[in-house]
Order: sequence, then C-alpha cells, then structure tokens
Amino acid sequence: MPFKKVMNSNDVSSVQPADPCVMVIFGATGDLTKRKLIPALYNMAYAHLLPKEFAVIGIARSPLSDDDFRQQAGQYLQEFTTDSVDWQVWEQLAQRFYYLSGNVKEPDTYQQLKEQLAQIDEQCGTTGNYLFYLATEPRFFGEIISQLGQAGLAQEQDGHWRRIVIEKPFGHDLNSARQLNKILSNIFREEQIYRIDHYLGKETVQNILVFRFGNGIVEPVWNRQYIDHVQITVAETVGVEGRGSYYESVGALRDMVQNHLFQLLTLVAMEPPTSFEADALRDEKSKVMKAISPLTPEEVLFCAVRGQYGKGMIDGKQVPAYRNEPGVAPDSKTETFVALKLMIDNWRWADVPFYLRTGKRLPKRITEIIIQFKQVPFSLFRQTPVEHLTPNFLTMCIQPCESIQLQLSAKVPGPKIQMGTVQMSFEYADYFGKTPNTGYETLIYDCMIGDSTLFVRADNVELNWSAVQPILDIWQSLPPHDFPNYAAGTWEPKAAEVLIERDGRQWRLLHS
Ligand code: BG6
Repeated sequence: MPFKKVMNSNDVSSVQPADPCVMVIFGATGDLTKRKLIPALYNMAYAHLLPKEFAVIGIARSPLSDDDFRQQAGQYLQEFTTDSVDWQVWEQLAQRFYYLSGNVKEPDTYQQLKEQLAQIDEQCGTTGNYLFYLATEPRFFGEIISQLGQAGLAQEQDGHWRRIVIEKPFGHDLNSARQLNKILSNIFREEQIYRIDHYLGKETVQNILVFRFGNGIVEPVWNRQYIDHVQITVAETVGVEGRGSYYESVGALRDMVQNHLFQLLTLVAMEPPTSFEADALRDEKSKVMKAISPLTPEEVLFCAVRGQYGKGMIDGKQVPAYRNEPGVAPDSKTETFVALKLMIDNWRWADVPFYLRTGKRLPKRITEIIIQFKQVPFSLFRQTPVEHLTPNFLTMCIQPCESIQLQLSAKVPGPKIQMGTVQMSFEYADYFGKTPNTGYETLIYDCMIGDSTLFVRADNVELNWSAVQPILDIWQSLPPHDFPNYAAGTWEPKAAEVLIERDGRQWRLLHS
C-alpha cells in the first residue's frame, strides 16, 4: 500500500521488490521516456525496488539495436537525472534493456513483440507478467490498445498479469475521454488499467491524506464551520518548452486543471475513505467531483478566467510572448493561465469557495494549497491598539520546498497588546532527508505490485472532464479579445484578481 510506504519512507528495506515482469515502453525514444521513465527505473534499481527477474522492451520506429538502445538510455540518464549515478547499478539494469523497432499501427509489430516477450520470459524468468506503458503521443493510444487486444497480449491467464499504463492527456474533452475508456474496457478490465496523473506520485501530494486523516487536531476543523476558503495554486516559470504545437490544441485548462489541480482539490475536500484501498479512495474522490455542480454559461463568465502570457522577464532574462513561441499561431487563442472559483455543494463545504489558479511563465515555480480559517470575533480587542486580526492560514507547499506552515497570531513582547504573525513550519527534508525522486518511482512500482490507489479510475476521469466541459464550451464559442493579458514574469491577469477580490478575498503571496 502506498500510504503504508509513506509512513515507512525511511525504512527502504521494509519495501519488497516488485513482481517479476517485463515493462514494455511504447514511445521508447520519446520525451517522457528520456526525462522521467529512465531516471525513475534507475532510481528504483538503486533502491532495490525492481525484481531480479525484470526486463524492459523499448518500442519505437527508429532502427536501433539492443546495444544502441542501452547506450542511448544511459545518455538520457546522464542528461536528466538530478543526482549522481552509480554506473555499476545502471550497467546491470541496462543489460536487461531490449529494443524492438516497429510501427505501432502494424499488427506485425505485436507479433514480434509476442515472440520477444516469450524469449525474455525464458531468459530472464519474468514469468509472463507484462506492464505495457503508453508513453507515445495520445493519438496512438486507441490503436495500441486495440492491437494489444488482437494479439492476445491483454489476456491474463495462468496467474500471469497484464497491465496497461496510460499517460495523460486522457482524452481531449468529455466525449473523447468516454470513447477512450470504451476502447480500453473492451480489451482490459478496469483492474488492469493504470491511468497516471504524475501529481499523485509526489510525496507531498500523498501526504495531504496522511496530514488530514492521521492527525486528531486537523480533521475536526476541516470543514465549513472553521474554513473560510481554500486556494490551490500551481505556478510554473517555464513556457511551453518546445511543445508549442501540442499545447496549442490543449491549453492550461486541459493540461493542468482537469487532472493535476482536480487531484489536489479532491484530496483536500474528500471525506475520510473507509480504508486506503484503491476503490475506497477513488469512490470518495468521485463524490467530491459529483458535488461540484456544472457551471452554467453565466457562471462560467463569472467564475472562470483565462489568460495568455505576453513577453516579459523570467529570472532576469527576457522571454518571448506565447504567440512568438515555435509552433504557436501568431493570433493564438490558447490559454496559458486559468483561475477558477468552484463550490462544492455538500455538507462539509457548502459556501466555502475553492479558488484554483495555474499558469505558465509566472514569477515562481511553486505549488501550494492554502487553507484560510475563519476569523475569531474582534470584540475582545476593541479597547486595545490592535486594529484588525489576521486570520490563520495553513499552507501546504507541494513543491519545490516540500513543507507545511501554520500562520498564527502572537503577542509582540511589551507592555501594550500588540499582535504579530508567526509561523510554525515543518520541512520534509529536515525530517526525512532527500531521496532522488522523479515522482514516477512510486507509480511504476505500484503498477508492478498491482496497487491502483494512486491511479485515476474511469469514472474519476470522466467526472473531471464533466466539471471543465462547460468552460471549454463557452471559451470555444466566445474567443478571448484581450490576449495576451499578462506579461511573462507577473502573477496573473487583472481579471483573476477581480475574481477573488469580488468576494472580499485576495490571492495569497506564495512562499519560498
Ligand atoms: C504536465 C504538463 O502534466 O505537468 C506540463 O503537461 C507541466 O505542461 C507539468 O509543465 C508540470 O509538472 P510538474 O511536476 O513540473 O509540476
């Protein structure tokens, strides 16, 4: 169980290596494989999380030999790992890398794959357990899933498991997500399907639940009686990083809100699950999303703000406007910033707004969840020099500085009653040290042990799309007239300030 692992995170020896298996990576020379999967597999090997009976088959179109692939993978590791590499560990792992050059649209590729898998099972003792990882462009997902089915590779038999991992984006809107779920469920059972949201691989994201449900003082105040509102910010300094042509058809609402921000939202808002079993948790997430009533067209205009960055300065350097990025139309209407106000219509959260914002080219890379508590009555302080009281804030910093802070009021020493604000804070690194982590290690490990707690179920994904669909529809029919409306290196478009200030509140200044 991932949450048991969290609690024992200092004690790596208590975690057993995963089941024997072959991991088949479709898109073996692509960006995700280079940046995340190879470094994550290395980190897993280093932490003894991979079984001895393990192999990787990389599939892509380029004609490479096994040795070329091993060498290339070593180069990816060197380029993208954030820590020093024990090359002996890598060499041992790389020996178990194989390559298949093929077109994912051709049935022949799957026949060759079948043969190669059988050989590797013999050689490496991988016992017929296969993890298919779709790290390709999404337009190939449907084809690969169907071909795996036709080749009989999805079929579990004689105790061997077959699992499939699907990267985001999972669909482009509600309809396409439903279609993809249909294609998948024709071939795989839901328990075989692992829809990844890499935010769920982040330790601090998993910690939201442990913090909420593992501390007796937290849960009693986690509701509308004590909480004024919640802010969730995922700010990035990067632009579209060479992904302009992809991003053009996506935008921030699809790229970040319907997946990552909604994962954070549901973890903050959900009821205690009956256990950390995958379905218990995912049932509660679904209930939260069902309690968000779909926005009417008027509400979309009022509660959703979009933005696009113009040129500006990031870290002292001039950066181009989104419309001047490669692959982007000079009159692009794609949003690179979103702010939303959502209401969760249930007993715990009635009348407590959740303000969400995310954007590219903002001044800082930071992901924070801020809980603002309700004020105490002022009456006691009327006869004192204190002019106003500051509310208490709880800040959960997900990245880059993994920490939790509680802001309290305290008396400033001296004869008069004067108040100052103080912080109680806890930093992850101080207590648990730092472990090299791409965020993918736990997720890949969980696929290999068959634990889908940290993965998104079919209904979760559709409910997330349902919540953003009205916004997609209205934005599509009413193109923006003010883009670009924030300069790179500034916090947000004016309209996003208005969105929250209208309620007498403000976006909090972010830490670190
Ligand atoms: C990805 C988005 O899912 O998440 C990217 O497609 C974004 O646009 C990235 O930059 C952010 O992830 P992280 O882990 O850097 O916060």
